[in-house]
Amino acid sequence: MRFAIIGIGSIAPIHAAAIRGVPGAELVAVATRNEDRGRAFAAEHGGAWYADYEELLAQAQADVVAICTPHDLHAPMTLAAAQAGAHVLCEKPMARNVAECDAMIAACDRAGVRLGVTFQGRFEPLSDRLKVALDAGRLGRLLWASANTLWHRTDAYYRSGPWRGTWAHEGGGVLINQAIHAIDLLIWLAGQPERVTARTRTLNHAIEVEDAALAILEYADGRLGLIQATTSAHPGYPERLEFFGSSGSVIYHKGAARLEWHLTDPAEDRTEEAAVSSGAARPMDISAAGHTALYNDFVAAIGAGRSSRVDGREGRRSVALVEAIYRSAASGSTVALAPCHVDLDGRS
Ligand SMILES: NC(=O)c1ccc[n+]([C@@H]2O[C@H](COP(=O)([O-])OP(=O)(O)OC[C@H]3O[C@@H](n4cnc5c(N)ncnc54)[C@H](O)[C@@H]3O)[C@@H](O)[C@H]2O)c1
Repeated sequence: MRFAIIGIGSIAPIHAAAIRGVPGAELVAVATRNEDRGRAFAAEHGGAWYADYEELLAQAQADVVAICTPHDLHAPMTLAAAQAGAHVLCEKPMARNVAECDAMIAACDRAGVRLGVTFQGRFEPLSDRLKVALDAGRLGRLLWASANTLWHRTDAYYRSGPWRGTWAHEGGGVLINQAIHAIDLLIWLAGQPERVTARTRTLNHAIEVEDAALAILEYADGRLGLIQATTSAHPGYPERLEFFGSSGSVIYHKGAARLEWHLTDPAEDRTEEAAVSSGAARPMDISAAGHTALYNDFVAAIGAGRSSRVDGREGRRSVALVEAIYRSAASGSTVALAPCHVDLDGRS
């Protein structure tokens, strides 16, 4: 299978490593406007360098295109790749807003290509075990679910790319960029809330988007949830999700790769551990294992004619919640999650 990568920045080497981890996969092309970077990357990881991504789409005959560019480019590049007949693996967040997500899903459906979103956290072994246990009702009736992304990003980080810290290009701040991983897991593990009441602030960076956010979540069955997110928590703490139920609780110390179980029926207190992979203090302190597992699932999905585990419909969920949080913070009132604009039972 022939792969191409568009956007050769900090996450691109992880994608190249993931492609190496897929049997039968070959990186045939990369696109970035910077010639030195493009040629150096191609020499190290393989493929031909293109300055213009549209030329890559027209000439490289890629089966799968990985989109690793700033958030405002995810939708237009996905539409162009789908039109060129390529399956699309798009970096998180899927896009800046729900309207863009819907356009991406519809374009890939129309073109008959698969759309996947790189939420590699769903492929970590402990995430899987937690999902199975929660779905089996191990905590009894779920009462509370929360996600904490208390990270640190320096001013230099925000200056490292002209798109960072801007509404136009990033589409938001800590919520849509860093916390989106924990928000995706929260939705996958505990479901989509019905209403959200939120406050956001820009506390400690010279940026126009939020570097701090709190959101109270209300679910249809009455349970509560909470999202805490900031890039101003020095030195950056491991990402953590908490689930409290009528028969006990589990704390997912995701950034420390540890599950902490306290169950009542039967009584059990134990921890499970896995290898650590955290981006709490520095963005690229992540391994390629999650991306590699996600790539293998995506390729298997193409072969089997099914949706991948994190398809466009799944990728859209966290964007819908973040959009509702921004609307609540802007208006000061509680916001109901927007209804879906596409047939979400369809293929994507
Ligand atoms: N899954 C993860 O854990 C993870 C981690 C980091 C970043 N990301 C995501 O990956 C994406 C890229 O982030 P990054 O940190 O690598 O950003 P970056 O700024 O380091 O790289 C972005 C690259 O896109 C290139 N680019 C911009 N416009 C282009 C165009 N028209 N054609 C071709 N290339 C173009 C830029 O030159 C740059 O090299 C974002 O969506 C980000 O949220 C995901």
